[in-house]
Amino acid sequence: MKKSFIIKGDICYSKNSNELITVKDSYLICKDGISMGIFKQIPEEYNNLEVYDFSNKLITPGLIDLHVHAPQYTFRGLGMDLELLDWLNTYTFPEEYKYSNLKYSQKSYEKFVNDLKFSATTRASIFSTLHVSSTVLLMDLLEKSGLITYVGKVNMDRNGIETLQEESSEESELRTVEWLEKIKDRYQRTFPILTPRFTPSCTDDLMIRLSKIQKKYTLPVQSHLSENKGEIAWVKQLCPDTRCYGDSYDKYHLFGENSNTIMAHCVWSDEIERKLLKNRGVFIAHCPNSNLNLASGIAPIRKYLSEGQKIGLGSDIAGGIHLSLFKQISDAIQVSKMYWRLVDDTCKPLTIEEAFYLATLGGGEFFGKVGSFDKGFEFDAIVIDDSDYKHENLNLNQRLERTIYMSEARHVTHKFVSGIKIF
Ligand code: GUN
Ligand code: FE
Repeated sequence: MKKSFIIKGDICYSKNSNELITVKDSYLICKDGISMGIFKQIPEEYNNLEVYDFSNKLITPGLIDLHVHAPQYTFRGLGMDLELLDWLNTYTFPEEYKYSNLKYSQKSYEKFVNDLKFSATTRASIFSTLHVSSTVLLMDLLEKSGLITYVGKVNMDRNGIETLQEESSEESELRTVEWLEKIKDRYQRTFPILTPRFTPSCTDDLMIRLSKIQKKYTLPVQSHLSENKGEIAWVKQLCPDTRCYGDSYDKYHLFGENSNTIMAHCVWSDEIERKLLKNRGVFIAHCPNSNLNLASGIAPIRKYLSEGQKIGLGSDIAGGIHLSLFKQISDAIQVSKMYWRLVDDTCKPLTIEEAFYLATLGGGEFFGKVGSFDKGFEFDAIVIDDSDYKHENLNLNQRLERTIYMSEARHVTHKFVSGIKIF
């Protein structure tokens, strides 16, 4: 069903972390779901393709959300006076318990998926809850939306609350296999990702079982890493034989050794952990809005970029309030300014080009050749009507900057994901 067509408009995309390509009034060609590149005039061989005319609108690659909790969409903006561990126990775990009820899940997940569909995001890596049926329900809704996503049934067999914790490591393993078997061959655009919540939630025995499941089903992995100082001290207590938090996953081969892996936050990763992240090619999901709300700290993204780490952005709903990845781009720039001003004046703030790159090509790499319009990339594009806030005589770089700081979901007028127009 992948289509061949042409879209016309004012185009912006990242070539790399420093270079933004901007071209006015040009044609972007999609052949069988793959970008053929940008042209000032339609080449003869594509003359017969349908043209969608988005003249005067901005066209960018779809944005990539590397870290978002679907069940937490319901309680955004609550408990923002707490730090991570208290926030989890007071708000997050009691809310996630509600997803044992399918009616509640249906209503909440419909709203989440609908809002995600009409946002600037084309692809996401998503946490559900520990519940199998509602996880499948979420995946069914996402498949219908046309977005491309990874979804993880959460594993947690310790340090939850009475109503939100799996009975044993064996039970957690059984439910995970049940989930994986249920969704086998069920979807084209929705994929499973192994999701140990974080080390404090998973016993060593569960990690061993998950490692076996990862190998058997060749799954990617997602979790949390070095988000909050109290959390890090707790992991040190739970795993006294580790050099760093990352070791507590790496010990069980769940840290990029055998699979594509996303670790959210990495606010406090020390040199040993950063080397491990780099050596294992782990994707860092930088979640600046969440890190502000839960007073977790500021991840030194400038340092990580200079080390050549793989980095994307995450909304981390409901630590983060906003589903919009444009908002995460501006937050990433803003927190990097505070890091430079208050923490380390050798770490220059992120530029627009760098932060936009993180939200597109940076995170896109997790999904393959995604996040650019260069020839050979999967065709993900969003069309933005910036006439609300467009001044005359602004160049494309300036229009993109205003879009990053000022756009709302309603300004995204059309979306294409892997060559399919979803609205
Ligand atoms: N660490 C473990 N679980 C969570 C969660 O749900 N949100 C955030 N931000 N961090 C976590
Ligand atoms: Fe999170």
